[in-house]
Amino acid sequence: MSDQTAKYLVTGASGQLGSLVLADLVKKVPAENVAALVRRPESAAPLEALNIEVRIGDYDDPVALELAFKGIDRLLLISASEVGKRTAQHKNAIDAAKAAGVGFLVYTSILRADSTPIGLAAEHKATEEAIKASGIPHAFLRNGWYTENKTASIAPALEHGAYIGSAGEGRFSSAARQDYAEAAVAVLTAETPEHGAVYELAGDESYSMAEFAAEIASAAGKPVAYVDMGEVEFAGALESAGLPGPIAAMLADSDASAAKGALQDDSHTLQRLIGRPTTPWAETVRAAVKELTFA
Ligand SMILES: NC(=O)c1ccc[n+]([C@@H]2O[C@H](COP(=O)([O-])OP(=O)(O)OC[C@H]3O[C@@H](n4cnc5c(N)ncnc54)[C@H](OP(=O)(O)O)[C@@H]3O)[C@@H](O)[C@H]2O)c1
Repeated sequence: MSDQTAKYLVTGASGQLGSLVLADLVKKVPAENVAALVRRPESAAPLEALNIEVRIGDYDDPVALELAFKGIDRLLLISASEVGKRTAQHKNAIDAAKAAGVGFLVYTSILRADSTPIGLAAEHKATEEAIKASGIPHAFLRNGWYTENKTASIAPALEHGAYIGSAGEGRFSSAARQDYAEAAVAVLTAETPEHGAVYELAGDESYSMAEFAAEIASAAGKPVAYVDMGEVEFAGALESAGLPGPIAAMLADSDASAAKGALQDDSHTLQRLIGRPTTPWAETVRAAVKELTFA
């Protein structure tokens, strides 16, 4: 049962995860108890269609954040997207939540944030520590990989007949964004919030990138093979394809960490939170291939 009386706010509301969270949240609690944070006024229109309140605030603007968080009982802080700036941005949000008297803060972290070798985790770990130090009752959603991270590269894989990476035989227990969104709503709206809870979230099934490439090939009816390369070579290939150097290096590091098991998890915590099996990764692959084929 969800708490129907609390006032909720979701940050990152214009983003892909935030939009899915809000669509699910308004099914669980009255829309008048839901607010969304966006940084650009032009992002407000699609959210107003949900009959929710839209507040404006940038993670770089502590004053606006404190104003935006006034009167909020439960806050979902969706991690920011500019790698390298996030610890400071999240700290602004945490300080603002504290000053505004937020009663429960839920943060979207990364799988095993405190022990994973993935470089991306440093900012999540620092954010978790800042939340704990703030004294605000909180829960951490340690989200594993989105399957959509991997389906985003299906188009070039089909073009070249090769899906490249540096994950070796590492297995990915990824889940769909929709699954993580529903988990966020379940934790945020719980009748009795579980203060201090840490949820390691991942898909029910895992796959190697060779299996992933084979699924693309089968769905598209075209040959696609996984081509493994070293981390530096993979980063170079991504950069040659047009990605900025730091993003290319971050993706290659994540793949190389996956080779060591960093993105595999058998806990099934996500399934338990959402009350159904996670979306099968092959289903997400097939939907992505279909969309490309009919585009
Ligand atoms: N687990 C995974 O596999 C995975 C993969 C990708 C990302 N992530 C993390 O999960 C988060 C959510 O994922 P997503 O797919 O929804 O990402 P997304 O679509 O890029 O959404 C990011 C959201 O954060 C907002 N934002 C960024 N900087 C901000 C700032 N300075 N002030 C206020 N809002 C700001 C964006 O607003 P605008 O619309 O104005 O830009 C957008 O609403 C990401 O930001 C990232 O930290 C996780």
